[in-house]
Amino acid sequence: MSKELVTAIKNHRLIEVTEKLTMAIKDVVNECEIKEEELLKAISFLNEVGKKGEFHLLSDVLGVSVLVDNITYQDDADADTTLFNVEGPLYREEAPIQQSPGSLCELDEPGDVLFMQGKVISAATGNPIPNALLDVWQANAIGDYENEDENQTDYNLRARILADHNGYYEFRTVVPAGYDIGKGGPVGELMKAVGRHAMRPAHIHFKIEGESFKTLTTQLFPPNVPWLDSDAIGAVKEPLIMKLEKVTDPVECKKRGVTTPFYICQYDFRLKEKV
Ligand SMILES: [Fe+2]
Repeated sequence: MSKELVTAIKNHRLIEVTEKLTMAIKDVVNECEIKEEELLKAISFLNEVGKKGEFHLLSDVLGVSVLVDNITYQDDADADTTLFNVEGPLYREEAPIQQSPGSLCELDEPGDVLFMQGKVISAATGNPIPNALLDVWQANAIGDYENEDENQTDYNLRARILADHNGYYEFRTVVPAGYDIGKGGPVGELMKAVGRHAMRPAHIHFKIEGESFKTLTTQLFPPNVPWLDSDAIGAVKEPLIMKLEKVTDPVECKKRGVTTPFYICQYDFRLKEKV
């Protein structure tokens, strides 16, 4: 067998995808009768996307990231299991570990205080998953992540919360805000030029591990927030919209150690067992 043929067999997946992609691009060029000037603009745009490191973002706004996530984890999409969602580009490993109840931030973090609590359970049996680990990260109350904001401390609004032996977790945080993923870069400019916005609705990211269970990566969304119906990356899934209860009773506030009304969200995560 020739060297070339061996390489071609090894790369059959790459060859298949490249051929299909080439056909799809040619179809668009033919259908839209793309002219040379437009091609040069497109090439210059893609060069700019590369320079700014925005290819992940481009994949997000084209809806490709969510589609690939749905294909990759389609076997986990059953009614009993909590829905997965994209990890996004802002995850950081090695967030501090805290035994539940924990806190993602200092007590004076600006914003509406939110207590998240619930259980991590088996999707198949409903049994708790002891000592599940919830890796949580989010933007602050004005939509900034700590690693893109010099005003926040290292790992602010990020923590790995260790659930107790009954799979129960609880942590304090603030209600996050949505944010602009375009921020003046080439992808954001493209969105503007085609009459789309580049805003994501507020959300909290989770990556949850339990012994002998598949890791669940997902996002939860506070209800009734801007852009929930028009997420720039199309990641909103109805079962992942949180129910927030507002607590104004001063006695309850005192019990929780807060001086203002706060929110509680009860959310159980149902993980699928490894096969
Ligand atoms: Fe995010």
